[in-house]
Amino acid sequence: MSNDVLVIHASELLTLRGPERARAKREMSELSIVPDGAVAVSDGVITDVGKTASILKEHDARGVDKIDAKGRVVMPGFVDPHTHLVYAGSREFELELKAKGKSYMEILQEGGGIYSTVKDTRSASWDELFQQSAGRLQSMISHGSTTIEAKSGYGLDSHVEMRMLETIKKLGSDYPVDLVPTFLGAHAVPPEYENRPDDYIEFVVSEVLPEVSRRKLAEFCDVFCEKGVFNVDQSRKVLLAAKNLGMKLKVHADEFHSSGGAELAAEVGAISADHLGKTSDDGIMAMARKDVIGVLLPGTPYSSMSKDYADGRRLIDLGVPIALGTDLNPNCWNESMQFTVSLACYKMRMTPAEAITASTMNSAAALGLEKKIGSLEYGKRADILIMDVPKHSHIAYRFGTNLCSLVMKDGRTVWEKHQSMAT
Ligand code: NIG
Ligand code: FE
Repeated sequence: MSNDVLVIHASELLTLRGPERARAKREMSELSIVPDGAVAVSDGVITDVGKTASILKEHDARGVDKIDAKGRVVMPGFVDPHTHLVYAGSREFELELKAKGKSYMEILQEGGGIYSTVKDTRSASWDELFQQSAGRLQSMISHGSTTIEAKSGYGLDSHVEMRMLETIKKLGSDYPVDLVPTFLGAHAVPPEYENRPDDYIEFVVSEVLPEVSRRKLAEFCDVFCEKGVFNVDQSRKVLLAAKNLGMKLKVHADEFHSSGGAELAAEVGAISADHLGKTSDDGIMAMARKDVIGVLLPGTPYSSMSKDYADGRRLIDLGVPIALGTDLNPNCWNESMQFTVSLACYKMRMTPAEAITASTMNSAAALGLEKKIGSLEYGKRADILIMDVPKHSHIAYRFGTNLCSLVMKDGRTVWEKHQSMAT
């Protein structure tokens, strides 16, 4: 049986053809669109990209399946480079607290927030943790995410941190999506180490990280570097220890205060600094000099009822390559990269084309995967979306509904919208 498939008649085929690296400044606006475009796929890999007429002429042999996009947009699968996919329970009750004026950090400092989810995650069974996370994962896939980063960070002890990372591994093998695991042991100081953050950092560095590395459970290490959580020195210790063990680095940087997180990301050679709600100009310039990708997460200020959206426009204009992520977590239950793209345009003044680059090619680069995914080019994996819109700008313009019509992972259709309304 042939594994070949042609996706034809895209009104706009968004190829994102270009250098195999994160795109910066004006490059972020260049989607390399082929009108009436088509993609040829063989064994899960893209073998040709061009006009529908020429792709059909070259590849329309017997046994080739054809998927007709019927004048809709075809684009690379979304890459979500920052999520806290695996957790148990929910925190819907915090919505009322936030509405009444409590900030995210106040809720955390009163023992809620991350601590509330740590309790739920520690007491959940393996199966509960897996099933609850799997429900979210399926929803993310149906909204077009084909590669997703996922962090630990709600165990804050050796046993449950490992369980979270093992859950990520199993989810990645059970569902048609690539999951990239990140160790975030330094997400908060656990209750057992109350007022002893240095001791906890020592425990993470000397006991947990080496086990994560020995068992090959994480590709990245991340730290919540924030006033009131972990300072720059504590964060540096964890990041350098992880780097020594061969892990790639990310930083939760300057989410609520300018905490030196962006500068630290540049200093330790992190692939990305994430959030950047309050990053100083020095931090921005340090990132631009060292090609640190800025991962912006507009769902977080939205759900935290904060006005501090990262200034996407300014970051791009100053030369920081920008990626977008959902930051899915119990404070920000956002499973949709489409909604994230829309928020980036309406709240961070990014253009629709920049937001699409940020959620495909640049988010692939934020995971070190720029050579394999993120664009529709010869040799790349066939992670492809058909979006139910005539032009790419509609993806940012419309929000609140799922615009995906078909999701393809490695050349295989893994989700399709069925229109079933009776007339
Ligand atoms: O990226 N800020 C730190 N960590 C997550 C939130 C985790 C939580 O509130 O459960 C974030 O926003
Ligand atoms: Fe986060």
